[in-house]
Amino acid sequence: MIRTNALTKDFVVSRTRTVHAVRGISLDIQPGELVAVLGPNGAGKTTTLRMLTTLVPPTSGTATVAGYDVVADPARVRAAIGYVGQGGAGGASQVVRDELVAQGEIYGLDRRAARTRAGELLEALDLTEQADRKVDSLSGGQKRRLDVAVGLVHEPTLLFLDEPSTGLDPHNRANLWEHVLRMRTAAAEPRTIVLTTHYLDEADTFAERVVVVDHGQVIADDTADALKADLAGDLVSLRTPAADVTALAALAERAPGTRAVHAGPPGPDGGRAVEVRTADGPGAAPGLLRAADAAGLTVTRVDVARPTLDDVFLGLTGRSLRETAVQDADSPAASPTDPTTTKEVLA
Ligand SMILES: Nc1ncnc2c1ncn2[C@@H]1O[C@H](COP(=O)(O)OP(=O)(O)OP(=O)(O)O)[C@@H](O)[C@H]1O
Ligand SMILES: [Mg+2]
Repeated sequence: MIRTNALTKDFVVSRTRTVHAVRGISLDIQPGELVAVLGPNGAGKTTTLRMLTTLVPPTSGTATVAGYDVVADPARVRAAIGYVGQGGAGGASQVVRDELVAQGEIYGLDRRAARTRAGELLEALDLTEQADRKVDSLSGGQKRRLDVAVGLVHEPTLLFLDEPSTGLDPHNRANLWEHVLRMRTAAAEPRTIVLTTHYLDEADTFAERVVVVDHGQVIADDTADALKADLAGDLVSLRTPAADVTALAALAERAPGTRAVHAGPPGPDGGRAVEVRTADGPGAAPGLLRAADAAGLTVTRVDVARPTLDDVFLGLTGRSLRETAVQDADSPAASPTDPTTTKEVLA
């Protein structure tokens, strides 16, 4: 459905300064996949989406989307895709229903068909009650659902969503996701969805595949579970009195599946947690306890923690993604040097 080969994008900012926003991204996304693209601010996520949606031309490399080359055949690409940009696309002073009808007409539906389609989308995205209100009177969550509806007007089989849930409260995030997942399977063939998010838990829960981008390159690409198992591993923490720390750590080193063992800082009683990084924490913990018991070592407490996608990013880059997530909550939409909105260009 999407195939890119060594895609790059340079922005020449001034005579002496070029931003290498995307530095050689190769991706192969199959029909029906739900892919989350993660990465810190400025990683190149939006720029990649904008190249795939024909909004900016690549500097080098190639990309085909829905079978068409983004440079040679942009009109065909646009007809096949929906795009919900980081900033949203709805006209603020429009009435909700009219906005959807107008979008339908832009995509070549006659007025009657456009009204029918608008009604279906309002229903599907739970906006029927808001249909006759002005767009700028909607709450953030309702507005974002309208953005998604606008992206779906022409029934694309492939949908790009750039931070669909940023800035929404937990209730509205859950609500938006429910709708995204429902409309994903509502079509005759499952839709392909590529989205960016700074909410790692969303990517973890909903995406079947996670692509981690950093400095314009893909640094990991797999299921969330595989990334966590391969790159981070579970953490089994065994609390033990000071006298047993060395022996327990040595025993844990020898246990099957162990990748690394560290002794945590001493507690008030001098005891420590022996922290065991292992492929399968819940599987390894009972064996560790039995071995400790057989060796006459005391374990006073056991904790098993599964890694998060943030642990994966930390393991890959030495930096945490979590810090960028908070800053980004109100990040502005399109770049100031490129004022083109989705609607203008895709229309
Ligand atoms: N039109 C432009 N002109 C100059 N530089 C740009 C332009 N658009 C993007 N950039 C730069 O390219 C880099 C990648 O930006 P991009 O918007 O793709 O990042 P992102 O991963 O979407 O980040 P965020 O999480 O903040 O949305 C950044 O350094 C950004 O400042
Ligand atoms: Mg972005």
